[in-house]
Amino acid sequence: MFLARNPQCGVIALASSHLARSSAIAVYRQQGSRNLATVSDTPTRSYGGLKDQDRIFQNLYGHHGTDLKSAMKYGDWYKTKEILLKGHDWIIGEIKTSGLRGRGGAGFPSGMKWSFMTPPGWNTGTTPRYLVVNADEGEPGTCKDREIMRKDPHKLVEGCLVAGRAMEATAAYIYIRGEFYHEATVLQRAIQEAYSAGLIGKNACGSGYDFDVFVHRGMGAYVCGEETSLIESLEGKPGKPRLKPPFPASVGLFGCPSTVANVETVSVAPTICRRGGSWFASFGRKRNEGTKLFCISGHVNNPCTVEEEMSIPLKELIERHCGGVRGGWDNLQAIIPGGSSTPILPRKICDDVLMDFDALKDVQSGLGTAAVIVMDKSTDVVRAISRLSKFYKHESCGQCTPCREGTRWTAQIMERFEKGQGREREIDMLQELTKQVEGHTICALGEAFAWPLQGLIRHFRPELEARMQAHAQASGGEALAGGWEHNARVQGKLVAPGQ
Ligand SMILES: Cc1cc2nc3c(=O)[nH]c(=O)nc-3n(C[C@H](O)[C@H](O)[C@H](O)COP(=O)(O)O)c2cc1C
Ligand code: SF4
Repeated sequence: MFLARNPQCGVIALASSHLARSSAIAVYRQQGSRNLATVSDTPTRSYGGLKDQDRIFQNLYGHHGTDLKSAMKYGDWYKTKEILLKGHDWIIGEIKTSGLRGRGGAGFPSGMKWSFMTPPGWNTGTTPRYLVVNADEGEPGTCKDREIMRKDPHKLVEGCLVAGRAMEATAAYIYIRGEFYHEATVLQRAIQEAYSAGLIGKNACGSGYDFDVFVHRGMGAYVCGEETSLIESLEGKPGKPRLKPPFPASVGLFGCPSTVANVETVSVAPTICRRGGSWFASFGRKRNEGTKLFCISGHVNNPCTVEEEMSIPLKELIERHCGGVRGGWDNLQAIIPGGSSTPILPRKICDDVLMDFDALKDVQSGLGTAAVIVMDKSTDVVRAISRLSKFYKHESCGQCTPCREGTRWTAQIMERFEKGQGREREIDMLQELTKQVEGHTICALGEAFAWPLQGLIRHFRPELEARMQAHAQASGGEALAGGWEHNARVQGKLVAPGQ
């Protein structure tokens, strides 16, 4: 039992009692449906403090074995046959009721996405159909899928079967990041066990449904996590994203209907089917339902990956599970809430922001992969974002000009800004550049490199300006275009064209 404070109204609620939870949910349900894209309404109860019995990932910390027997002891593979026999409409119905949104970053409603695999007349085709599991986990700061695969692999194997049945797929390909050697080994062992026990393969679980699971190791390129790039890579080609449409559900892996889904999304499907979609939907705010793995790294006392209720306040997440920010909450400077591609948030927003898709969208950031990177006051935020720019420059596949050139330019600009070598109006030019990239590239890596820069300018512009002023003062004048010293021309050095 614990007391939780509603961060919005300060009301203290008895959050652990089942009665309190059910009545709070009932009150919340009475609010009526909302048709706006985001929510800014005040939460009607406090979120967080997930109880152990409500945790889907029972072995996140490796307290019991990864083998089939241990997995079954903790509830995996229980009544899987019954779930399969209920058919794809029933499974998709439960996933829709649960409100599950993709855990790979974009947060698209999973029930709807999976249903695209079974349009009218789907059963008249003779081609194979694939579930492709995205286990690439390349987003800096993210470390949740690897925990599932190395500690709870049967959750994923059973998830493949249930999600595969929902899509009427013939097989699942798990595309795992190449560096995850240990994870791939544990996962492969779990797959072998499942085959030997008749849980997958021909007549999976005795249901009459045939389903294979394959593991494919990638080579560690970040862009191969993008779904169409992943498909190209699986087909043995260079991992370069495809133009959409056609979408994978019509033309996917080997030209067959396919759906790419994240490891966590797939792994929660069997528990949702067993406990019911409405059980899962009882956690978190409307449109942001469920439990979620959060990975918190950086300047906290105890960095960890933890399963919590969606919509938990950021501050509570850090204080309850990570032992607080190093040096106390007042020592916090900023956080990146959802992996490196989500915009940075300064301390004043962190004080009461909730960790869900809509709350973070409302503060111009995003939940992404829920990888929280905490930075205390010792952090050089400009340098941190500059380092991310270098990462994106390295990872751009080079197909689109705005991304290929933009990642290089911005990395160069940020390298200068770190030292204050720039003019204040170049900050606006950098902002303009990032805006030109958004929406003009084949894949979302364009946005992924543009957004962190926009976040920096939005919240830390005074910091950038102060550096430029300090540099001008130290070097006897304002830098020229391109970061050249104020007296470069006198020294006979080349300055930017037009100068
Ligand atoms: C550059 C880039 C990298 C991505 N990397 C990953 C990744 O490592 N893992 C992942 O699950 N999704 C990644 N995604 C998102 C996938 O394209 C896709 O949306 C996701 O796998 C769908 O799964 P979901 O519906 O379960 O969220 C990436 C997207 C982009 C644009
Ligand atoms: S946005 Fe970048 S990574 Fe994506 S396809 Fe274009 S060049 Fe490649």
